[in-house]
Amino acid sequence: MATTATLKLDDKEYPLPILIGTEGEKAIDTRKLRADSGYICYDQGYGNTGSCESAITYLDGDNGVLRHRGYPIEDLAQHSDFVETTYLIIYGELPNAAKRKEFGLLLRQNAAVETQMQRIFEGFPKDAPPMAMLSSIVASMAAHYPQLAANNFEKDLANFDLAAAMMVSKIRTIGAMIYRYLRGLPYIFPKQELPFCENFLHMMFSEPYKDYVASPEIARALNLLLLLHADHEQNCSTSTVRMVASSSANLFTSISAGICALSGPLHGGANVSVMQMLQSIHDEGDDGTRFIEAAKSGGKGHRLMGFGHAVYRNFDPRAKIIGKAATEVLKKLGVNDPLLDIATKLEQAALKDDYFLSRKLYPNVDFYSGIIMRALGIPTNMFTVIFAIGRTPGWIANWREVAANPKGRIYRPRQIYVGPVKRDYVPLGQRS
Ligand code: ACO
Repeated sequence: MATTATLKLDDKEYPLPILIGTEGEKAIDTRKLRADSGYICYDQGYGNTGSCESAITYLDGDNGVLRHRGYPIEDLAQHSDFVETTYLIIYGELPNAAKRKEFGLLLRQNAAVETQMQRIFEGFPKDAPPMAMLSSIVASMAAHYPQLAANNFEKDLANFDLAAAMMVSKIRTIGAMIYRYLRGLPYIFPKQELPFCENFLHMMFSEPYKDYVASPEIARALNLLLLLHADHEQNCSTSTVRMVASSSANLFTSISAGICALSGPLHGGANVSVMQMLQSIHDEGDDGTRFIEAAKSGGKGHRLMGFGHAVYRNFDPRAKIIGKAATEVLKKLGVNDPLLDIATKLEQAALKDDYFLSRKLYPNVDFYSGIIMRALGIPTNMFTVIFAIGRTPGWIANWREVAANPKGRIYRPRQIYVGPVKRDYVPLGQRS
C-alpha cells in the first residue's frame, strides 16, 4: 500500500504522508500542506476530515459496524452493562472482578450532589429546558471541585479517576434532580447499595416514604439504552468536547460544552423530535403518509426525524438492537403503546420508498429509543438528558485522549473568507 500521496499544484508536487489505522482506515496527512503550498483543505462540516487519532471507537458507517475498544456493540449489548462498558470505554479494557468492584464503589461514593450545588437548581425557572439546566450545572462542577479542574492537563490527569467517576455518577443524580425540580417534587438522594441504573430510577420515581423499586426488566432496559449511547466516535458533541479540551480546559467544562452540542435537534435532541412526530401522527389520525411526503420535499425543517445518519449509510447497528428491544420491553412490561405501531409502520413505509432507499436513509438509534424511555415512565423533555448520561463515558475517554497526548495542539480550523474585501471606513454622517 502506498505510504505517500502526491498533490500537484501549479506545476509543483507536494508529497503527503498516508496514515493507516489499525482497521485499515486510510488518511492523507495534510498538516504541512498550507505551510508548504499556501493551500488549506476545504471540508465544510468536517465530513471527510480526520481531526484526531483515537483508540476508543471504531465505526464503519458503510457496513454498519460499531466497536468500542475492539468489542462489537452487539456483544456488549448482549453481555455487558452500562457501568462495565463505561469502564471499558474510559480505561480501554474490560475490568477484572476487583477493578469492577473498585470502580462501582467509586461511582457509589460520588453519586451525591452537595447542598451548595443543590442551590443552583433554585435559580432556574420551573419551565427551564432540562438540557440548558444540565449543561449549566455540569459546568458548575468546575467551580465546586476546583482541585479536579485546574485547567492544566498534568494536574487534571493526576486526579482523573476521581473526576471521571464523579462525572459519570453525578450527571445521573443531576439528571434525576432536574426531573424532580421541574415537577416541583422533593429530591430523592442516591442510595449507596443500589446499582447504577436502579439508583437512577430510585432518584427519579421514589416518593417520600415509598421507594420505587425497579424491576429487573426495567433496569435492564435502561442499562441497554445507556450502553447503546456510550460512545460514537467523532460526532458533533464529542468533537466539541475534544475542541474545548484542546485549549487545556478541564473535564467538567469540556463535557458541559458537549452537552450544549448534544441538545440540538439534529443530534441528541432528535429523540424528542421523533416522539413529537409520532405523537402528532397519532393525534391527527394520519398513517404517516403526510410526514413521509413532507420529508421528501427536501426542506431541513421537514425531515423524517430518527432517519438518516451522518456516517451510517446502510443501517445503524444500535437502531437494530434498540428496535428489537423496544418491542420486547413493551411486551415484558405489558405496555401497549400506539406510538410503537406508528413507528413500525412508518419505518416499513419509508424503507419501501425510493426517496429514502436511494439516499440510504435508515432508522437511527433515536427512532426507537424514545419508545423505550416512554415505557420506563421517562417524560419526553428528559430524553436528551438520558442520552447525555449515556454519552458521558465517551466524552470522558475523548477528553482523556486529548489531555494525555503530548503532541496535541489546540483545535483551530481555518476558513475560506468570502466577506467584503478591504474598504475604507465611512463616518456616520456620510453613510447612506
Ligand atoms: N428525512 C428526509 N430526508 C433526509 C433525511 C431525513 N431524516 N436525512 C437526510 N435527508 C436527505 C437530505 O435532504 C439529502 O437529500 P438531497 O440529496 O436530495 O439533498 C440527503 O438525504 C442526504 O442527507 P445529508 O443532508 O447529506 O445527511 P447529513 O449527513 O448531512 O445529515 C442527519 C445527517 C443530520 C442525521 C440527517 O439525516 C437528519 O437530519 N436526520 C433527522 C434528524 C435525526 O434523526 N438526527 C439524529 C442523528 S443520530 C444521533 O445524533 C444520535
